[in-house]
Amino acid sequence: MGLLDKHGVIEKNATLLLIFSFLVVTVGGIVEIAPLFYLENTIEKVEGMRPYTPLELTGRDVYVREGCYLCHSQMIRPMRDEVERYGHYSLAAESMYDHPFQWGSKRTGPDLARVGGRYSDAWHIDHLTDPQSVVPESVMPKYGFLMNRMIDATYIEDRLKTDAMVGVPYTSEMIAAAKADFAAQIDPDGDYDELLARYPKANISNFDGKPGISEMDALVAYLQVLGTMVDFSTFEPVASR
Ligand code: HEC
Repeated sequence: MGLLDKHGVIEKNATLLLIFSFLVVTVGGIVEIAPLFYLENTIEKVEGMRPYTPLELTGRDVYVREGCYLCHSQMIRPMRDEVERYGHYSLAAESMYDHPFQWGSKRTGPDLARVGGRYSDAWHIDHLTDPQSVVPESVMPKYGFLMNRMIDATYIEDRLKTDAMVGVPYTSEMIAAAKADFAAQIDPDGDYDELLARYPKANISNFDGKPGISEMDALVAYLQVLGTMVDFSTFEPVASR
């Protein structure tokens, strides 16, 4: 009796087939899941990652609300064509403060995981206001109305607290200073030293060039920080150390 004949016995007996299927799935499951409980950390810690500033976080909420993820992914896969086009492949740590993450699965437009710093603030404002004025064949909708929607930051402390509840390391100092930091990021002539101490490398700018803090300001602050927190000139994956 060959091996295949023996397998025939299982195939003809539904109970036996169920028992063996169950065993296979159980062993496979344990092999995959058990190590996760013993690893110190499933996300490799990476230098440079910090929580979003209150303004960036607000911009992120605008991004989610407007459904930008329906056309844009935020995850560069480790394949040569992607890395050549978008930069270093995305690390798990780079989205560890994202709730919910914005990896996405649809690329009607380009991946945005490393769009920060690639264009000027003015370019973003022009592009978001009228994408076709910058890229004539673009199918991206116009978002100029964001410039007229002002944010008063009434709930910004609660917003930080909510993320803190799900594990983002916002300290009580950061939460207490949320309103001040929110306003400081938009004012290049003001005192933003404390903001920078709490959130290194934050971009200080009046993003849309107009008085007041608009949703456009917040959205561009968010876009400009994407993919810029980790310094890839010094980054070394754990596997190669
Ligand atoms: C209907 C699909 C669609 C939606 C929705 C959309 N975009 Fe786009 N986006 C595109 C396309 C297509 C391009 C490429 C052409 C261009 O630059 O306009 C693009 C380009 C971009 C770029 C330039 C990226 C680069 O590397 O050149 C940015 C930044 C951007 N979009 C941001 C946003 C933001 C922010 C939102 C939400 C407020 C948004 N997009 C919503 C389709 C979309």
